[in-house]
Amino acid sequence: MLSTMWVGSIGGICESVLVAFLKWAGGKRWLAPLIRDCIGSVEEYVEPFLGGGAVYFELSPLRAMLSDANADLIDAYIGVKSDPAKVVSRLNSWQVSPEIFAIVRDSRPRSAAGKAARFIYLNRTAFNGLYRVNRFGKFNVPYGCKPGTVSCDIGAIIRASRKLQSADLSVGDFSVAFDRAPDGALIYADPPYVLPCSSGYARYTPMAFTWLDQSRLALAASASVSRGCRVIVSNAYNSELVELYPRRKFEVFHARRSSRMAAKPQHRGIQSEVLIVSRNIPKAVRARFGRILEAL
Ligand SMILES: C[S@@+](CC[C@H](N)C(=O)[O-])C[C@H]1O[C@@H](n2cnc3c(N)ncnc32)[C@H](O)[C@@H]1O
Repeated sequence: MLSTMWVGSIGGICESVLVAFLKWAGGKRWLAPLIRDCIGSVEEYVEPFLGGGAVYFELSPLRAMLSDANADLIDAYIGVKSDPAKVVSRLNSWQVSPEIFAIVRDSRPRSAAGKAARFIYLNRTAFNGLYRVNRFGKFNVPYGCKPGTVSCDIGAIIRASRKLQSADLSVGDFSVAFDRAPDGALIYADPPYVLPCSSGYARYTPMAFTWLDQSRLALAASASVSRGCRVIVSNAYNSELVELYPRRKFEVFHARRSSRMAAKPQHRGIQSEVLIVSRNIPKAVRARFGRILEAL
């Protein structure tokens, strides 16, 4: 189950902090504690490719601007933020079965809570937890969860809702979030992994992410660093990709990890990833990133 907890202690009182309540392709649950350990506490945070929000929940910043191009995903966060009790009660009323899956998938709820419940249910019960739509925006992943799957984790939803009260949520292209980021904010960007030779990535949105978008992202990151934002970008390793980030502004760290998201076991293997960290983040912090990623 995805909603693991980190148990911290503030002034002797133990607090449970939610990590993430959605299962998301390319999710950064593995990277989130590492970023938290290196960066420490964060006041102003911007995450333009929110997905399952693993890094956001782990960092638990004071204020956050969270966005994603996937409108259904952001609607789910809005529903959880505004009416968690209703989301939970809807989820509890749906059995986990192929028949109910088909009904929920074809439903079009109007309320924020209804939209959130539908999204979470599909996220838990669709094959591999994938969220994929066709070019008309229609969800097209088949049913495929393990026996014993439960669609509702009450604690995770309630804690996420509490945390999201200090977050601004919006749908949009990442460029808007970069433009709106307050000077000095920490921006964490985790785009779909697209390399120069690929035509686009599995669709999270009706529009595929392309190599041109990777170039736009590097330009937006660079402009934000120039006005004082601290920027961290995670991406797949490719020599052309890292060239998009000027070395005077960014340092590149390599990480080799085993990939488990591919549908077929023979396609799962070692993935080379990078963490691109702006040089206005103190040298000692960057050195920690290097040490920890090297040790993976
Ligand atoms: C790799 S996932 C992010 C995963 C996230 N870091 C997590 O831990 O779950 C990439 C996200 O980028 C979003 N996305 C794709 N194209 C986008 C765009 N042009 N602007 C903003 N978000 C976009 C997708 O909807 C998807 O949620």
